[in-house]
Amino acid sequence: RQNERESLLIVLNFAKTFFQETLLNTDEGKGIGLSYFRERGFTNPTIDAFELGYTLDQWSALLQEGQRRGYSTELLEKAGLILTKEGTDGGKQKMFDRFRGRVMFPIHNVSGRVIAFGARILKVDKTQPKYLNSPETTVYHKSQVLYGIFQAKQAIRQEDVCYLTEGYTDVISLHQAGIKNVVASSGTSLTTEQIRLIARFTPNVTILYDGDAAGIKAALRGLDMVLEEGLNLKLLLLPDGEDPDSYVHKLGAEAFKSYINEHSQDFIDFKASRWLTEAGDNPLKRAEGISDVCASITKIPDLLKRQTLSQRVAQVFHVSEQSVISEINRLLRKQQ
Ligand code: GTP
Ligand code: MN
Ligand code: MN
Ligand code: MN
Ligand code: MN
Repeated sequence: RQNERESLLIVLNFAKTFFQETLLNTDEGKGIGLSYFRERGFTNPTIDAFELGYTLDQWSALLQEGQRRGYSTELLEKAGLILTKEGTDGGKQKMFDRFRGRVMFPIHNVSGRVIAFGARILKVDKTQPKYLNSPETTVYHKSQVLYGIFQAKQAIRQEDVCYLTEGYTDVISLHQAGIKNVVASSGTSLTTEQIRLIARFTPNVTILYDGDAAGIKAALRGLDMVLEEGLNLKLLLLPDGEDPDSYVHKLGAEAFKSYINEHSQDFIDFKASRWLTEAGDNPLKRAEGISDVCASITKIPDLLKRQTLSQRVAQVFHVSEQSVISEINRLLRKQQ
């Protein structure tokens, strides 16, 4: 077991280096991959820090180099790097590279070893997924991984807060702008294991999701899970159509930092402001909003925190603290 793990990590590291060399030392890599990163504003130190790469638009560039280096096709397949297809009419297996003609984002574990890849197509169209990811393997369990955690962990400790974004390029662009305490759940909906990984470095999380419908939905879903793990939570949605990557490019590093500080809300304000806007003077809608915020409060394990937050809910919705406490208790009884 231990041996298989180590073999996989070694072959993944080989692949990472091969993709980096392809990016930096081939005509196609420079002409297509590096130009793409340049257009996105990534500098050399950034490309280096995240060990970004490129895969040639060929069927078996990695397979051939891997075999030349003595890696078995079985190992390459177990690492998620190559695919095999049975030939038609019972003919022999066809093997080819999983990632072709894409810019490569290695995914590191907490100690900095490459365990998987995210691979972006250069021009988005309807025929192919924008990002292709490694499959689950012995060393890669998607639900346990946060993109960027290795590059971010020291800064997360130092700043005592972790910014949680949606995507690879959000992490990279914020890092380049000097905001290094940032990770991404990379498209999967946030898991409890990912939240516990953050909790190893800080009790404070700020969710910075895209300002589209998907981002709002994901934020609301992630909210209760973060509270359940006993962490302190703030949220900020980027303006519609923006994500942290696009917005930090638009505003610049300093203005982006001020934007985060001024616009991140605690979860009560985040939820309440949405409800109050929707409800207006409608008392039933307001009651529904109070109940919804109270439902999130019931997720918090710490009784004292729950009590303090009840006062805040009462203030925000202009109702008595007693009615908020009753609602929380009613919901808690219902959950038992
Ligand atoms: P860019 O277009 O490169 O800026 O990517 P993005 O990170 O802004 O993408 P988006 O907001 O659409 O999605 C957020 C994250 O979800 C991405 O970083 C990926 O991790 C993941 N994702 C997006 N599209 C796909 C897809 O087609 N397949 C898979 N497996 N993951 C995806
Ligand atoms: Mn950018
Ligand atoms: Mn999005
Ligand atoms: Mn983006
Ligand atoms: Mn995005």
